[in-house]
Amino acid sequence: SLVSTKQLLEDAYQNHYAIGAFGAHNLEIMKAIIAGAEEMGSPVILQTTPGTIKYVGIEYMKAMAESAAKQAKVPVALHLDHGDSFDIVMKCLRAGYTSVMIDGSHLALEDNIALVKKVTEVAHLLDVPVEAELGTIGGVEDDLVVNEEEVVYTDPKMAEFFVKQTGIDSFAPAFGTAHGMYKKEPNLQFDLLKEINERVACPIVMHGASGIADDAVQKALDYGVSKVNFSTELKLIYAKELRQYFSEHSEEDDPRKYFVPGTEAVKALVKEKITVLQSKSKG
Ligand code: 13P
Ligand code: ZN
Ligand code: NA
Repeated sequence: SLVSTKQLLEDAYQNHYAIGAFGAHNLEIMKAIIAGAEEMGSPVILQTTPGTIKYVGIEYMKAMAESAAKQAKVPVALHLDHGDSFDIVMKCLRAGYTSVMIDGSHLALEDNIALVKKVTEVAHLLDVPVEAELGTIGGVEDDLVVNEEEVVYTDPKMAEFFVKQTGIDSFAPAFGTAHGMYKKEPNLQFDLLKEINERVACPIVMHGASGIADDAVQKALDYGVSKVNFSTELKLIYAKELRQYFSEHSEEDDPRKYFVPGTEAVKALVKEKITVLQSKSKG
């Protein structure tokens, strides 16, 4: 059955690799993610934003992930990505999610801390680990829109304080990544990441990994990054394959056929990312 991300991230953190956390938007994409992880023998995190939960339905989501986890030989976790309220976290805990993120990064520091603390206290009663963010990661993720001029890098001293005060299990800093693809080459602040890692005692999460070069992702593994989030690249390749399929087979009406190339492409991409993250055979 579904596993907690706690042990997965701790092992990755100790051994300088990372677990891929992939945005699962529907059954086909979820199955493709699992198939890729299985072929690589890698643990994997299925993650869903509040928007995806709204689209799929939380009970369907849990049931799909649970049956995937039951069949898989590798560890599978179900994570709430960018949870935007105490309420959505509670719904996910009740439904059986095995990991949650509460994102109060748009709030003032004290309010962010208060919200994260409240979530952590409840989640930990159920042995569910919590991820939280400080600073602002740029780009667009669901209703979350952060313009370039609004990006605030995480202050390492504040990060240390935040993690200590909240008791979270993993920390998402802003060090130059953004959700979505990049218009120009991203300027990742590795010195900042290094200092954050020195001050913060828990695994670090890299958001916005779509569009980041493989060598830059790998470099981050040396600085405590133990969970890496990919969403946009999966969506892009899936949509591209669907478009391609219908341009070649405009009359096709069988979803058991037209979803197949997209699913295969997502699986191949997941395998590539797992190679980059060095989590192959860690499951
Ligand atoms: P990308 O869409 O850039 O891969 O970011 C994903 C993410 O950070 C999900 O939380
Ligand atoms: Zn994110
Ligand atoms: Na990105």
